[in-house]
Amino acid sequence: MIIVIDGPAGAGKSTTAKEVARRTGFDYVDSGAMYRGFTYLYLEYDQDRTRLIEILDNHGLRFEFHITEARVFHGKKDITSDIRSDSVNSRVSEVAAMEEVRNTVRQLLRDVSKDRDVVLEGRDLGTVVFPDADLKFFLTADPGARARRRYDERILKGEQVSLEQVRENVETRDRIDSTRDIAPLKKADDAVEIDSTFLSFEEQVTRILKYIRNRSTAAQGSIS
Ligand code: CDP
Repeated sequence: MIIVIDGPAGAGKSTTAKEVARRTGFDYVDSGAMYRGFTYLYLEYDQDRTRLIEILDNHGLRFEFHITEARVFHGKKDITSDIRSDSVNSRVSEVAAMEEVRNTVRQLLRDVSKDRDVVLEGRDLGTVVFPDADLKFFLTADPGARARRRYDERILKGEQVSLEQVRENVETRDRIDSTRDIAPLKKADDAVEIDSTFLSFEEQVTRILKYIRNRSTAAQGSIS
């Protein structure tokens, strides 16, 4: 079964997708980690777009997705935390707008999800990558709440950031992601929209699990 959760930055997609994965036994796939991995390479290549595009067939990145864990390697180096750096944060939307990078990631996502039960999170999964997904969700929250959540998350990790800096990054990425020509951030017509501004984490997860249970009961049997 393929379940996709799309939405803007800081809407709670990754925490929600991981919890849904934990409670269903599906594997969690983070498409943003792939765009972040290619952004890491872009920065390593001094932001040389031509060079990045040249190595896309042999990029050396490896993505490992397990139930609630996504790890990224470049060759032997574990770059899981490097892809969350400020420098990657500030360039990722630019790299994600490159058509060649999107084509590569789209194929990687389809390969990694083949013959597997997965819950994926991203921006264009319901519209472009998996238009026939079994279930599609679009998770939103008002921009202030999203910036605040992302800020709290980073402070909890011990990072030195200001709320203003986080808000600016979230707003800039949202603007670039929603207005780009290729695969913009957009709700699929058949996606269930969940506004999490006033929902507790448990409420939002329960809502999604209910859809999954109904869907799998209708399809074949039940999941625990
Ligand atoms: O965690 P957060 O929502 O802040 O970001 P992310 O999911 O790690 O995605 C980082 C960036 O990758 C986004 O701002 C988009 O520019 C890009 N992205 C995309 O274009 N399409 C996707 N399916 C996933 C991410």
